[in-house]
Amino acid sequence: MMDRRTLLRALVVGGAGALSVGGFLFTENIIGPYRLTARAIADRFEEVNGTFRGFRRNHAKGVAVRGYFESNGTGAELSTASVFRGGKYRLSGRFSLSGGNPYAADAADSVRGLGLCIQLPGDNQWRLAMINLPVFLDPTPQDFYDRMLAFAPDAATGKPDPRIMSDYLATHPGTVAAMAIAKAAPVAPTFTTTTFNGLNAFEMTNAHGVKVPVRWKLVPETTTKAPAVDRGPHYLFDRLIADIAQRPRRWAMVIVVGVPGVDRTDDATIPWPDGRKTVTVGTVVLTDITTETADNVRDLNFDPLVLPDGIAPSDDPLLSARSAAYAESFRRRTGEAGGRGAVEAGGRA
Ligand code: HEM
Repeated sequence: MMDRRTLLRALVVGGAGALSVGGFLFTENIIGPYRLTARAIADRFEEVNGTFRGFRRNHAKGVAVRGYFESNGTGAELSTASVFRGGKYRLSGRFSLSGGNPYAADAADSVRGLGLCIQLPGDNQWRLAMINLPVFLDPTPQDFYDRMLAFAPDAATGKPDPRIMSDYLATHPGTVAAMAIAKAAPVAPTFTTTTFNGLNAFEMTNAHGVKVPVRWKLVPETTTKAPAVDRGPHYLFDRLIADIAQRPRRWAMVIVVGVPGVDRTDDATIPWPDGRKTVTVGTVVLTDITTETADNVRDLNFDPLVLPDGIAPSDDPLLSARSAAYAESFRRRTGEAGGRGAVEAGGRA
């Protein structure tokens, strides 16, 4: 059995392998004084949303997509990652809405998610999970965990208790500020016109050994202000299915380069100043869409710490918590029957 110091050293020097060790330690609650575990997070989702067996504990409603990332080669100035060599790389993805109920009706204010798993040479992968909010609402995993309960619907009224919410916000000014930013951001009428943000900071290293903090986003090639007309229970997904059936849909992948020592890398609630350097490194092209099943994305974990060499995590505490919580959610659903998505998309992804 490794002692605590050896375990910590393994985390520091172990490169990619250390990431999974880090997730494990988070899951098993070995490293103190931090007491929140991935199991507790998954339990909290079930407590607040109910348990829908076979489905993700968050972002439960979704569809599978397929396509490719067309790299234009310019990312090489930032990172040695093979994904930034010019060329096309196959990918699997999943569009989702936040919440634990896979049968919930689509709503404009649900958080939209896009997970991608890009296949790279040598069996490498880059997995990304992005949302449409411009900033995250909680600086730490503990805050996320606490807010979930504070904002949960009250059993008697079916609505969150305003007093509990305001007591929570009174002691969480970072969340108040982030909510104001999120509220001011326009919500696109469709998935295909939505910008998806990675939010957490990462670190890229180029061939000269230069390291820079980065955040990334996917910016849609098509934009529209036209509101959706049909408000059926799957209106956002139905429109997405129709859009991709009509023609492949494209998003530019934009890397925002932070200023080392100036831009916060450990707090996803704080936006970086406008005007930071950006590098458009290629295009995500989605060609196929289909119903979610165990054969496509149900049994795929969009763990944000599966990174190619040349991209590393930052010091943002959300990252290891996300990795561990996604693994726990994956462990639960893949041990359960069911999980065929509520959105029937047909197709062959
Ligand atoms: C402490 C913070 C967070 C926690 C505890 C958390 C938790 C979770 C969990 C448990 C899932 C289900 C994962 C699965 O079963 O595969 C999930 C899904 C997801 N989360 Fe988070 N999350 C956090 C922050 C974020 C942030 C900052 C983003 C975006 C930048 C994000 C984007 C997503 C997306 C896109 C999905 C759906 C992935 C899929 O389709 O499989 N989450 N989250």
